[in-house]
Amino acid sequence: MAKTKSIFFCQNCGNESTKWVGKCPACGEWNTYVEEVVSKTQSRDKSIPSVSTRKDNKPQRIQDIQKGSESRVNTRNNELNRVLGGGLVPGSIILIGGEPGIGKSTLLLQVALNMKDAKILYVTGEESDQQIKMRAERIGIHNDSCFLLTETSTQQVFRHIETVQPDVLVIDSIQTLHTDSIESSAGSLSQIRECAAELQRFSKVSGVPVFLIGHITKEGSLAGPKILEHMVDTVLQFEGDRNHEYRILRSMKNRFGSTSELGIYEMRGSGLREVDNPSEVLLSKREENVSGVAVAATIEGMRPMLIEVQALVSSAAYGTPQRSTTGFDLRRMNMLLAVLEKRSGFRLAVKDVFLNITGGLKVDDPAVDLAVVAAVLSSSEDISVDQKICLAAEVGLSGEIRPVNRIDQRISEAQKLGFQEIFISKFNQKGLDSSKLQINIVPVSKISELYGILFK
Ligand code: TYD
Ligand code: MG
Repeated sequence: MAKTKSIFFCQNCGNESTKWVGKCPACGEWNTYVEEVVSKTQSRDKSIPSVSTRKDNKPQRIQDIQKGSESRVNTRNNELNRVLGGGLVPGSIILIGGEPGIGKSTLLLQVALNMKDAKILYVTGEESDQQIKMRAERIGIHNDSCFLLTETSTQQVFRHIETVQPDVLVIDSIQTLHTDSIESSAGSLSQIRECAAELQRFSKVSGVPVFLIGHITKEGSLAGPKILEHMVDTVLQFEGDRNHEYRILRSMKNRFGSTSELGIYEMRGSGLREVDNPSEVLLSKREENVSGVAVAATIEGMRPMLIEVQALVSSAAYGTPQRSTTGFDLRRMNMLLAVLEKRSGFRLAVKDVFLNITGGLKVDDPAVDLAVVAAVLSSSEDISVDQKICLAAEVGLSGEIRPVNRIDQRISEAQKLGFQEIFISKFNQKGLDSSKLQINIVPVSKISELYGILFK
């Protein structure tokens, strides 16, 4: 007879308690405890298959362990390889999170279909074979070594793994899996944790890399699995605006590479297209100069790219002026507006201000500040900023224009794209050799200087 007991789990951090508590002692969140029935009916490891690559584990000297970097598996998807730090590491477990409908299943199915020299097992608990088949047809890649399994029990999945012997395993999604060794409903915290633990043991023992798809809660964190983030080797976040075509794959944690890498995709009718040159697609094609638009030379992850900032400043129709942003931090914009008001004397307090980063991207690079200021002023004055101008600097609370990192990369990207002038902070000028550059560098130290050059 299985022993049954119930435990309370914090849905935020996974902390356990034998009784219900209002505030989690571990993470400080309120009202996150949920009761779950837990009963172990069998020993844990029984179901994990012995894959042929399994080797006997015994202690070895650290110098004797072979370094595995050369054995990274190429996913045939440059953006994904880049975010993973150069390819898939054998035995690693990768969690991909993202809002529903953002394209997680599409991305991984496409990767699975593209990896023609490896055997892939794509396990789905979310959709039927037919739905996946339809998606595969949309993507339009033919692959004989990609297997599909609709299954939600880990024990069954492991049974099929023994026969298929895949080189890569994809689980869509971890929330739909359940294991027989625990008696609580699929998607509950203890199930997620146990399933992930089983998959992790499988992956470490067999050397097969495993992709886990995970859902995201409304608040933007991975549903339940804070604990999952600790268990897996890599956490990737797939984000973007569902109504826009661009998607960003960001690395939040990576045991085998840098977390500042990022991949960019475009969602098309026929799957995701890798975007190698993000700047070109992110700049909207303008025929003529319009006011309220400025271009920022930003660095997202490791890559410099030029993005367009659009602002609309108009007289407030109601008593309280509206402020709204897409792709940019609202508080940051409010701060910049306050700086403009207080330090430079622009009357914006009675104006509605809307700000938009084109392409549905979210930026958090402080170097965008100056472009935001320029776009707001341009709209407010109704004078356009020349299309051949871009900006890269942070704006401080006293209205000073501050230097930003990696300015050379920003400048050379702007030059590559044919911009003729780049506005930077005076303090970024040190060590810059502008004699070899075709692009004209305009150093500024105060907003009034910028205003004087652009709008007078
Ligand atoms: P999906 O991959 O199912 O998202 P997730 O698994 O993250 O929930 O689908 C994402 C959306 O992409 C869906 O609304 C349909 C759309 N889509 C395309 O635009 N082009 C395509 O080729 C495919 C397969 C999907
Ligand atoms: Mg899906």
